[in-house]
Amino acid sequence: MSAFHILIVDDNEPNLYQLQVLLGGSGYQVVAAVNGAEALTKARQNPPDLVISDILMPVMDGFTLCREWKKDERLRQIPFVFYTATYTDERDREFALSLGAERFLVKPEEPEVFILTIREVIQQLQRPPAPLAANTPARLPMEEPLREEFGYLSQYNEVLIRKLEAKMQQLEEANRELERDITERKRAEAALRQMSRRLLRLQDEERRRIARELHDTTAQSLAALAINLNVVKDSAPDLSARARACLSESLELAEECSREVRSVSYLLHPPLPDEAGLGSALRWFIDGYTQRTGIHVDLEIPPGLTRLPGDVELALYRVVQEGLTNIRLHSGSKKARVCLECRPDQAVLTVADEGRGMPPGLLERMGRHGGELGVGIPGMRERIRQLGGQLEIVTGSKGTTLTAIMPLREEPV
Ligand SMILES: Nc1ncnc2c1ncn2[C@@H]1O[C@H](COP(=O)(O)OP(=O)(O)O)[C@@H](O)[C@H]1O
Ligand SMILES: [Mg+2]
Repeated sequence: MSAFHILIVDDNEPNLYQLQVLLGGSGYQVVAAVNGAEALTKARQNPPDLVISDILMPVMDGFTLCREWKKDERLRQIPFVFYTATYTDERDREFALSLGAERFLVKPEEPEVFILTIREVIQQLQRPPAPLAANTPARLPMEEPLREEFGYLSQYNEVLIRKLEAKMQQLEEANRELERDITERKRAEAALRQMSRRLLRLQDEERRRIARELHDTTAQSLAALAINLNVVKDSAPDLSARARACLSESLELAEECSREVRSVSYLLHPPLPDEAGLGSALRWFIDGYTQRTGIHVDLEIPPGLTRLPGDVELALYRVVQEGLTNIRLHSGSKKARVCLECRPDQAVLTVADEGRGMPPGLLERMGRHGGELGVGIPGMRERIRQLGGQLEIVTGSKGTTLTAIMPLREEPV
């Protein structure tokens, strides 16, 4: 006797596979179809001994398949088992059974229970056929086809609409959840941005205060110290050679300290590009920088550079200031290059050195904590981002290059 032949219908590949393994392993011969229409075609070509069908499937769902099955003279005696994860309401079960299905199983069923149920259906099948029940649609007297069709359609509609409503409700809930998340996130981002702006402003104010303090007090005292030491040097000809050497050295130290303090004060708060415009301010700042640090800077500015929007000029100026300060502190390079290009829609500024490059992994770490607050590079990034631009950094053993790209808005006419 040939193996018992079961047709399984499911649009979900893993589900089909699972059933195939389970039923195949129990000695059944299994044929698969991915929707109702394919199942009908296959069953008509080669009728199975049993069909197990999912309900929610594209092209033709399980309800329609069962309906067609029970209308087909050649198929209607073959038992039909529903196996569904979506239609789990009691009314869905009633509707499914009213279509003439033998069983209605809800996924996922324990494999043993599933197989037992299937065996039971098969045993019933092997008993002599019971007289047809009068109230199943497939077994209705033929003289009432219209009324029956109408009853079927309205129940089918009801089942679908119930399912649709449940899905809509789930979707709406998910949507609300999503909206809550988005609002929360937006609020957090806005707070972070505000905090960054505040931090940058405070940093500016603090730098200005320290620069002024250094310039007005420490630098003045050091200058006075140098003058006094000069006076001592001139009016003490009979000092020992050792004392003279010490005095000269002290004088040099005082002068060096004074220069350093002025440099730091200058670099902390250089003159801003307000009236002079970005080009002149950069030239001025870079002259002072080279004088104080000994680092030579090539500066390239477009010849007829016109004024850019004030906030753009200030942000670019800050990039040069921070970039050159980093070169002095971290790169070890004796040369730097600052280049500004202006295109109609954007300004591109690069600040490059030929130094040792940034420590490995630092950029990635900064990128990973992208929203991080801070001074230095995160501060530059934030200023540029606030104006819709971006900062790119390339670094390696041959040096570091910062590129700031700033969109230039069309000025309204
Ligand atoms: N031009 C550069 N060359 C080498 N390393 C750099 C350069 N610029 C920045 N760095 C590295 O990146 C780090 C972060 O820079 P920054 O954010 O400006 O902070 P800070 O200068 O206060 O340390 C520096 O500590 C330094 O290790
Ligand atoms: Mg820095």
